Amino acid sequence: MATQLTWYGHATWLVESGCQRIVVDPFFDCNPSSPAKAKQISADFVLVTHGHFDHIADAAEIANRCGATVVSNFEICEWFSKKHGVKQTQPMNLGGMIDLPFGRVKSTIAHHSSELPDGSYGGNPGGFLLMLRETGQRIYFAGDTALFLDMQLIGAGGLDLAVLPIGDRFTMGPDDSIAAIELLKPKRVAPSHYNTWPPIAQNATAWAARVRSKTKSVPIVLEPGGTFAI
Ligand code: NI
Ligand code: MN
Repeated sequence: MATQLTWYGHATWLVESGCQRIVVDPFFDCNPSSPAKAKQISADFVLVTHGHFDHIADAAEIANRCGATVVSNFEICEWFSKKHGVKQTQPMNLGGMIDLPFGRVKSTIAHHSSELPDGSYGGNPGGFLLMLRETGQRIYFAGDTALFLDMQLIGAGGLDLAVLPIGDRFTMGPDDSIAAIELLKPKRVAPSHYNTWPPIAQNATAWAARVRSKTKSVPIVLEPGGTFAI
């Protein structure tokens, strides 16, 4: 059975694997590019890469309404449970791996920042490597990050898909994303964290052409709300 991925604009993704629904960095209601509102989303797990508003905005609403489990770093999980009444969390820290019903999740490094919207300490920013039980597929969500050489290690076990920011300014941009693809060597690569607002505007079609000419990875460019299966 295939894995279904939907991009809701910005860094918000839905992964459907088996009967599990995993939403990554839920930013719906205040996301100018999202075609959906948070209340339309149902999820079993909510993965949060770091504490910035554009990644956590609707996490508590979805988790509390759906009874979903929040997976994030320890500090963000504590913040959700103490300040937003989230009942189920799976706290992690960098380098750690956990087993969940849909597969294994590894917390990966990201070079960024992670303050929570109320000024609380948000721990270290991260990314996630998902190893799906249903298909054996490996999917890497880089989160908000600069390029880093250790991406070589993340890609070493093979990647069916890498989701990389290309917006520039707050994360790596198109140039560094090409270098990241060369380190990660994923079968497919999808761009994220761009075109939400003018400061992170990018031409994804031009980016995809560069990916095709410079790497062996297949670029997958979606419109917000677009879906593909792997
Ligand atoms: Ni951020
Ligand atoms: Mn961000």
